[in-house]
Amino acid sequence: MKWYKVCNQEDLTIKTSLTIKVGELTIAIFHLTDGRFMAVEDRCPHKDGPLSDGIITGSTVTCPLHNWRINLINGEALPPDCGCVKTFKTKIKDDDIWVEL
Ligand code: FES
Repeated sequence: MKWYKVCNQEDLTIKTSLTIKVGELTIAIFHLTDGRFMAVEDRCPHKDGPLSDGIITGSTVTCPLHNWRINLINGEALPPDCGCVKTFKTKIKDDDIWVEL
């Protein structure tokens, strides 16, 4: 596992997201309304929709393709849907957001 610097935390305002590519993997980083930063693979567990284009509500994101709601804390789809997206640890160091991959 390795930590990657994503951006300064001021570059990612609340209720927005950005993506980074590491090899074949695209990671979406979300800034939640409570101030936390969450990172998940940018691929909906339903049909691979871009979660980074979804709407953030609390600690969930709604996929823009078919409206599945994904819990960004544990990566699981909210019922009645079923599935899970890979999550990654984040940390703040010297005002920068880091993701462990
Ligand atoms: S691809 Fe995300 S809800 Fe269908």
